[in-house]
Amino acid sequence: MSENPYQTYDARILEVKDLTSREKLFTLRFLDPEVGEKFEFRPGQFVIVDIRGFGEFPISICSSPTRKGYLQLCIRKAGRMTKFIHKMKEGDIIGIRGPYGNGFPMEEMEGSNLILVAGGLGMAPLRSVLWYAIDSGKYEHIWLLYGTKAYEDILFRDEIIHLLKHGEAMNCSVKLAYEVESPSCIYLERGFSDRVCRGVVTDLFRGEEFDVEKTYALICGPPVMYKFVIRELLDRKLSPGRIYMTLERRMRCGIGKCGHCIVGTSTSIKYVCKDGPVFTYWDALSTRGLI
Ligand SMILES: Cc1cc2nc3c(=O)[nH]c(=O)nc-3n(C[C@H](O)[C@H](O)[C@H](O)COP(=O)(O)OP(=O)(O)OC[C@H]3O[C@@H](n4cnc5c(N)ncnc54)[C@H](O)[C@@H]3O)c2cc1C
Ligand code: FES
Repeated sequence: MSENPYQTYDARILEVKDLTSREKLFTLRFLDPEVGEKFEFRPGQFVIVDIRGFGEFPISICSSPTRKGYLQLCIRKAGRMTKFIHKMKEGDIIGIRGPYGNGFPMEEMEGSNLILVAGGLGMAPLRSVLWYAIDSGKYEHIWLLYGTKAYEDILFRDEIIHLLKHGEAMNCSVKLAYEVESPSCIYLERGFSDRVCRGVVTDLFRGEEFDVEKTYALICGPPVMYKFVIRELLDRKLSPGRIYMTLERRMRCGIGKCGHCIVGTSTSIKYVCKDGPVFTYWDALSTRGLI
C-alpha cells in the first residue's frame, strides 16, 4: 500500500443487497488485485468512502478479515452522500481509503469469552468481530446480544436466524430483543423462547452470569444504549478495562490531522479517528465527552 495516508484506491461494487428499507450492503473488490491482497484490517476499523467529485464519508468495515477477496460495508441512507451511494449499482466504481482507527484488540482477547452487545446499526462493526471470532476459533464462547426496533430492521437477518438455529455448534449464542410486535417476531419468539424477547437489549442480560476474569464485552449502538449496557456489565463486576465500545463522531480526514473528531479537555484529549473509534470504559471515565 502507498505511504500516502490519503491515497484512495478504486474499488468495484460487486453486489448491492437491500438489508432493510434504510440500509444496503455493498460488497466491493479493489480493481488492482495487489491492493486487495495488501489491504489488511482488523474488526472495528473503518474506511473513508470517496465518491469522486462529490465527497467522502466514514463507514465501518462489516465483513471479517477472515473472508478474503472482498470488503463489505453496510450503509444507512442518512443524508446527501449516503443517498447518492444508495443509487449506485453493481459495476460502479468508488474510492476507498484506509483502513483507519485502532479496531478491537482481538489478539488480547483470545481464549476469552466475548459478549457482543449491538443496538441497531451497531450490528455493522460487530458483525466483523462476530465472524472473525467464529472463523478463527480462538475464543472460548461468543454471545451476541442484539437489540432491534422491529423484525424488518434486523440487519443481516438471514445470518442472525441461522445463528439462532445453529450457533451453538460454532460456540456462539445469539439473543435478540425487539421493540415492535409483529407476526414474524412472535413466530421467532415461539421458536426460540429462551433467546428472543420483546424488550430492549439490556433485557437480554436477565439470567446471564459470566466469568469476569475470562470475559470481554464489546458494545456498539446508539449513544443512549451505552449507559444502560455498561450498568448491566458493571453490576456483574466486569472491569471497565474489559468493556470496549466503538464510537462515532463527525470526521473529515480520518487520520488525526484536521481535529474534527477531538474530544476531552487539555489534560486528556483523544482523536476518535486515530485513538479510537474503539475505546475502553476506562478511557471514557478519564475523557470528558467521550460517551
Ligand atoms: C467511524 C465511523 C463509522 C461509521 N460507520 C458507519 C456504518 O458502518 N454504516 C453507516 O451507515 N454509517 C456509518 N457511519 C456514519 C456515516 O459516516 C454517516 O451516516 C455519513 O457520513 C452521513 O453522510 P451523508 O452525507 O449521507 O449525511 P449528512 O448529510 O452529512 O448528514 C445526514 C444526517 O446524518 C447524521 N450524521 C452524519 N454523520 C454522522 C456521524 N458520523 N455519526 C452519526 N450521525 C451522523 C447527521 O447529523 C444528519 O442528521 C460511521 C461514522 C463514523 C465516524
Ligand atoms: S477526523 Fe480529522 S482529526 Fe479525526
